[in-house]
Amino acid sequence: MADLDELREGSEFGLGVVAGNQGYHVKGANNLPWGMKDRLSRIFNPKTNRTVMLAFDHGFIMGPTSGVERIDLNILPLVQYADCLMCTRGILQTVIPPDTNKPICLRSDAGTTILTELNDNVLIDIEDAIRLNVSAMAIMLAIGDPAFEAKTVANLYKAVDSGSRYGIPVMGVTAVGKQMARDARYFGLASRVCAENGANIVKTYYCEGFEKVIAACSVPIVIAGGKKLPEKEALELCYKAINDGASGVDMGRNVFQSASPAAMIQAVHGIVHGGLTPEEGFELFKELTV
Ligand code: R5P
Repeated sequence: MADLDELREGSEFGLGVVAGNQGYHVKGANNLPWGMKDRLSRIFNPKTNRTVMLAFDHGFIMGPTSGVERIDLNILPLVQYADCLMCTRGILQTVIPPDTNKPICLRSDAGTTILTELNDNVLIDIEDAIRLNVSAMAIMLAIGDPAFEAKTVANLYKAVDSGSRYGIPVMGVTAVGKQMARDARYFGLASRVCAENGANIVKTYYCEGFEKVIAACSVPIVIAGGKKLPEKEALELCYKAINDGASGVDMGRNVFQSASPAAMIQAVHGIVHGGLTPEEGFELFKELTV
């Protein structure tokens, strides 16, 4: 019990100074509870309102594809340059040191590999996501897939329900079926479905007319990099997405399959957070390439 005799009376009450209303920087998140906002602020840098997420969850559908054969050797050296890590719980628990202290966007559904068509994906138990102290859960949606669209929308719904209960944001990841047109109409629809069903972040692909996809989505959009491109083209893709209003990237192959992954992620960072043009980003990439 504190000693009441020594209690000093307060005198600095700032009388006459109106308490400020705190705005919140992440799109669509103003009305979320504190825990959600705290987690989103770990992902989206409050200074730039953007993020560079490093995606290396590919092994859960592709196996040890190029660049993720040895996460300890290929990915750990890049972690220092990322704002957020996107991976599976298996890799998180076996390879990522707990004192890395980077926010985690956990791949939270599974069921399909590249050896089969889309399958009946299942969700992680929310208790495991809590135990792993993740900052977001990533759930795939197969919008337009006749067999599994409803199942994956239901997965998002359930993840949003359990995430809301414990203050964990959900990222909707729009998968593209082979028969889907990769255009603003499709990505706009898929992104909007994610947001309408409660996703706090949407991950989708860049396309012509991307500004309309962004405008019609009430939460931040980050872009996937997709298949490996020459570095200059990948940096142009980042620039165009950011210029059209994307809140960052969640990039995998274009970073870890680069000839110089550490240089590439720093160049991406320069475009996302530092306002670099693609040309400046590419110069930085060349400078940092060893
Ligand atoms: C998406 O569902 C995958 O899990 C990857 O995380 C995603 O495709 C991002 O990686 P990439 O930039 O290689 O496309």
